[in-house]
Amino acid sequence: MSATAIEQMSAEHRHIETVINALQTIASQLETSSTAPMDTLRRCVEFLRVYADERHHLREEALFFPLLVQRGVPPQGCPIGGLNNDHAKGRALVTTLTDRLNAYEQNAAAARDALRQTLQELVQLYRHHLWMEDAMVFPMAEKLVTTTDNQALLDKFAELDRKIGSEKVARLEQFADQLAK
Ligand SMILES: [Fe+2]
Ligand SMILES: [Fe+2]
Repeated sequence: MSATAIEQMSAEHRHIETVINALQTIASQLETSSTAPMDTLRRCVEFLRVYADERHHLREEALFFPLLVQRGVPPQGCPIGGLNNDHAKGRALVTTLTDRLNAYEQNAAAARDALRQTLQELVQLYRHHLWMEDAMVFPMAEKLVTTTDNQALLDKFAELDRKIGSEKVARLEQFADQLAK
């Protein structure tokens, strides 16, 4: 694959965006209907846990952001401090979503509003976060990341994928592609 590390992360954003758009659709449907597609929601949770967090956020937190810091970007404040903070908030919200889904399975009518609210919070958080990185961080990084940096990132990304399992990564990307249709 010839994509750069930044291009790879940008492509990951498009998969994440697809899943976030599906969550928005489900949240809107829950305004008038009490039937949530539980199987899809459980798979979205797995996607957010593994693909968005264990893979994509770890690439950023452990490898990409530290490289930007080495190249002179401040580790605290805007943008890196805020983005790391969003990752932590996203993690907490996915845990809340799991609780909401369990409650919904017990009593859909009583748990519907809380489920819808958590979905909305996740959608808002992710949309703003993806926008910040796409519009601000990646363009800035294009100017800072050298060819050698890029190769080092790609090597470490591949190593991380071996730990997660490339089949699992491919399966989750397929899930997002199916949702897009
Ligand atoms: Fe991020
Ligand atoms: Fe990202």
